[in-house]
Amino acid sequence: MESIALAAADKPARYRELLPQLGGLLDGEPDLIANLANTVAALRECVPAASWIGFYIARGGELVLGPFQGKVACVRIAFGRGVCGTAAAQGKTVIVPDVEQFPGHIACDVGSRSEIVVPIVRRGEVVAVLDLDSYDLASFDAADAAGLAPIAELLGTLAW
Ligand code: SME
Repeated sequence: MESIALAAADKPARYRELLPQLGGLLDGEPDLIANLANTVAALRECVPAASWIGFYIARGGELVLGPFQGKVACVRIAFGRGVCGTAAAQGKTVIVPDVEQFPGHIACDVGSRSEIVVPIVRRGEVVAVLDLDSYDLASFDAADAAGLAPIAELLGTLAW
């Protein structure tokens, strides 16, 4: 079992370092839940600014809480609702520098101040979203979106 080791200080380099290590971590393991759980743990090493990292998985027309690290969270989110449901409905990454400025933001943790949600697409369909929250304003930016995009692409190859 290899462990995740990230030496770089800047965000783009940390994501670049993570990607092949995550690939190695998931390689050869067919169990989706195990892979998502380890992905969250690996991302926690990569993104120290995040207070909550986890998945919402598309099931029966809504998003259902999947593996995560952080505080207890809302279990079900409708497509189109909140930041997660918006990213899922649009199939696009949503960066929210200040959650109070996002109409319909769902506050699972009242301490959360900023958020990024990245859709995971498999064969043209959104199968899940990856959600990262932070207790600081504007923790996530284009560098996170760019760094998380290939990770989401890799996750899209899993057996959802
Ligand atoms: N804030 C999210 C809900 C999920 S929690 O942040 C874990 C949203 O508005 O969709």
